[in-house]
Amino acid sequence: MDKLANYNRQGAIDVLSERLEFERTGVELYDRILEAMDLSNDPEIEAMREEMEDYRDEEKEHEEWLEDQIRALGGDPDARTRRVQLVEAETVGIERVILASHATIPEMFHALLAAELVDNASWSLLGNLAVEAGDDEAEREFMTRLEEEARHLLFVTKAVETFTTREVLGEPVSLPSTA
Ligand SMILES: [Fe+2]
Ligand SMILES: [Fe+2]
Repeated sequence: MDKLANYNRQGAIDVLSERLEFERTGVELYDRILEAMDLSNDPEIEAMREEMEDYRDEEKEHEEWLEDQIRALGGDPDARTRRVQLVEAETVGIERVILASHATIPEMFHALLAAELVDNASWSLLGNLAVEAGDDEAEREFMTRLEEEARHLLFVTKAVETFTTREVLGEPVSLPSTA
């Protein structure tokens, strides 16, 4: 991360903090959805659980890795930088849907899709920033996590497609599962 930080240390801390704020929210969202999935007795929802738990753990790893990077650059992982405040404001609606007590699982996945789209675009942005800075090590780290995010997005997209097809066309379509 040194090359990137050498350009603009505060700027690097700010983009990492932005991502951290989002990943922290992501873990909360996954935890809430997993809780709801536990209460479901739909075997197809149950079959999705393991994969969702893996993704939750990946979001947690992203959170912890970002905290370490921010500290290594001399930043405070709890600082409410401008970009952190931007993310806070942007995610209000997604959190409102998923954390609502009356939210259904299809509604939760609908909102999670919005979150994962941003997650993917944002890790991609970090990767491109590292390329511009000629920071190969940072690029590798960002790209590894982007590949994980791409899997989250694929899975959540498929789930939303399935829930929507069932609801709108009334067809019994199978939910995504690795089983
Ligand atoms: Fe993420
Ligand atoms: Fe994700």
